[in-house]
Amino acid sequence: MSVELTIPQVNKLGKAGTDFLGVRYPLISGGMTWISDSSLVKAVHDCGGFGVLAAGNMPPELLAEEIDRCNALGGAYAVNLVTIAPNYPAHRKVVVEKDVPLVIFAGNFPKRQAVEEVKAAGSKTMSFASTISIAEQQIRFGVDALLLEGSEAGGHIGHVSLTILLQQVLFHNPSVPVFVAGGIATGKMVAHLLLMGAAGCQMGTRFVMSEECLAHDKFKARFAAARAREAVSTPAFDRVRLPVVAVRALQNKGMQQFGDLQMDLLKQLDSGAIKREEAQLKVEEYWMGALRHAVVDGDIEAGSLMAGQSVGLMDRIQPMAEIFEDMLTEAETELTRVKELL
Ligand SMILES: Cc1cc2nc3c(=O)[nH]c(=O)nc-3n(C[C@H](O)[C@H](O)[C@H](O)COP(=O)(O)O)c2cc1C
Repeated sequence: MSVELTIPQVNKLGKAGTDFLGVRYPLISGGMTWISDSSLVKAVHDCGGFGVLAAGNMPPELLAEEIDRCNALGGAYAVNLVTIAPNYPAHRKVVVEKDVPLVIFAGNFPKRQAVEEVKAAGSKTMSFASTISIAEQQIRFGVDALLLEGSEAGGHIGHVSLTILLQQVLFHNPSVPVFVAGGIATGKMVAHLLLMGAAGCQMGTRFVMSEECLAHDKFKARFAAARAREAVSTPAFDRVRLPVVAVRALQNKGMQQFGDLQMDLLKQLDSGAIKREEAQLKVEEYWMGALRHAVVDGDIEAGSLMAGQSVGLMDRIQPMAEIFEDMLTEAETELTRVKELL
């Protein structure tokens, strides 16, 4: 369903972002492993937003097929690559061989060579930045845009909130467009972030709550009932010996099992039964598998319920077009209010 809205102020403030992305509205549906497939990309694309295909740890052949489906839409979209996923090296090959408009590096951060390789293949690049140093490093590496993601977000996260990142990075007018994510679920917030200079806003949790999202009904129902404070970050028991990227998810048995896994891996590291890199891969395999259990199989106890704190800002599932209309008209109204205030 196409969404035609008269929102001149949002369009004006979002122009740098929409020009960069090649879409009508400055809203990105963040790549979510097991959730953001080509059908979600299509649903977002049809509403004038920017869809992202999540590579997660899918088999490379499937990623290639999914890219073909996205390319058939004939519009702009991105592929989200998780740099800490076991299949990341194979995924890089696929995106280099295929025609992908934008590649978003997530999970950790890409090496300079990866950015250069993807750009040389004709794709634009964007990197997640969860700290000011990663933001500066990725600009030096040549990325075309940044995605500042605060620790309020769902999934793999850094430790710095969006409020701080905005002041550390966005307010210093970096040389590339800066998209922002983490804790965004309302049009009012979008309006203020655009006023601050954001090129656009990425959301994950809010789009899980769309009718078009194929996540299991139980997964969505749990989101609908959850409060903001239930979306907590995982602990890291030993940041030196086993550095794990934190994950924000709703508390359940799966979260406890992750604690047990860390303890077990630390014991194996002590005894020399396993190397650090292998242990880190096991951690990522755990998350990919646990998220699948929850999203695909509906196991909301032992599976992983990755969710941002924004989960507390929504309590119902809506058609995608309604989400776009609600958010964008609210953003436009807020901009008018601000104008009158001044
Ligand atoms: C269930 C879930 C899975 C996610 N998986 C990924 C992923 O595979 N790659 C990625 O870059 N970000 C992932 N994210 C983060 C989103 O793309 C997005 O940046 C984040 O959800 C924004 O914060 P919000 O949830 O407050 O909107 C995931 C988020 C959720 C909720």
